[in-house]
Amino acid sequence: MKEKLNKKERTSPLDLRKIREDFPILSRSVNKKPLVYADNAATTQKPKNVIHRLSEYYSDENANVHRGVHTLSECATEAFEESRQVIQRFLNARSTREIVFTRGTTEAINLVAQSYALKQLKAGEEIIISTLEHHSNIVPWQIACQKTGAKLRVAPVNDSGELIFEEYEKLVNKKTKLVALTHISNALGTVNPVQKLTKMAKEVGAVVLIDGAQSIIHAKIDVQAIGCDFYAFSGHKALGPTGIGVLYGREEVLEAMEPWQSGGDMIKTVSFEETTYNEIPYKFEAGTPNIAGAIGLSEAINYFSQFDLEKVEQHEHCLLDKAIERALVIPNLQLIGTAKKKSSICSFVVKGVHPNDLGTLLDQQGVAIRSGHHCAMPLMSRLKVPGTARASFAFYNSQEDVDKVFDAIEKALFILAA
Ligand code: ALA
Repeated sequence: MKEKLNKKERTSPLDLRKIREDFPILSRSVNKKPLVYADNAATTQKPKNVIHRLSEYYSDENANVHRGVHTLSECATEAFEESRQVIQRFLNARSTREIVFTRGTTEAINLVAQSYALKQLKAGEEIIISTLEHHSNIVPWQIACQKTGAKLRVAPVNDSGELIFEEYEKLVNKKTKLVALTHISNALGTVNPVQKLTKMAKEVGAVVLIDGAQSIIHAKIDVQAIGCDFYAFSGHKALGPTGIGVLYGREEVLEAMEPWQSGGDMIKTVSFEETTYNEIPYKFEAGTPNIAGAIGLSEAINYFSQFDLEKVEQHEHCLLDKAIERALVIPNLQLIGTAKKKSSICSFVVKGVHPNDLGTLLDQQGVAIRSGHHCAMPLMSRLKVPGTARASFAFYNSQEDVDKVFDAIEKALFILAA
């Protein structure tokens, strides 16, 4: 079978040898085997320039931002604010005022839930999410609903893990005040037609948040073309450091929102009688921000921007096609999530085998995949599985990596069957 598949192998449009050299971790061993990293949906690896930039910042430029008149502080502030510009251009936001730094996607969604939803929603109004969502795009809205009396409506998915547009359409109505949907499902890889879904929600005047945690280095992001009010993502899933993320917010919506956390930097003036707030985005950035994280993230975005996204997508589709071909010939293996439009995520279960056992046996062979519910328990119960094994690929993975993942799965299943 492998021979047949190898014949079909296509040459990657990317210079993979060169790209892989940029990621030091890819040349290490795990359990005495060369690492095959296929857990990119959990977090991506970091290129040298990001690692170097973090070290350079702490070695040479470290100071607090927006506060000092000394050279180092000015230097750190400049680098921090330049990072905001890099992200603004990458997302095609209208201005840097629309880019709020957060700890990650989860914090960005919580910011909107608490600062927008809690203040704006009234009993009887509705929030729409979908079955595809990560817990971080479910729980903040559940809490907002509990506190305001608003109702959480859930757009269902079909057996392939695709959002059923007609059902979503039926849910959208005048009571819909907020719609929060994922761009790409972290558990299955389903790509949502976010532009079309947003358009429908905007027709009834709802505010739309897109969870972009999984999409930054897998799809074109243009917040103006999508038409959403909020777009949230995490740095660590986009080649950047952990602990940094971004909330894009449409200027008019951010302007109308109350601050979330309070303290230093988010104020203009403070007296014991009254406090006035800073302008956006600083109004939402209380306390010393993750300066190094923001700088590291912009370095990651700059690094990724050197590649032609079409080529990245083409390469990742080849990886996914190959993964699916290899998966389909394994007895008792069932793919979970077979949407027509999918990112490079291959989720599956094998009858009689616990995904964690598979994950452990793969780790012994140097192969990193993720197993479990992927923080998407409602999706798992809809698809009637307790969890899945998930191999998720990034542009630095090779077709050889895919083969190694599936060779390791075959070996693991052989061991488990013995
Ligand atoms: N949400 C991350 C994942 O899907 C951690 O693995």
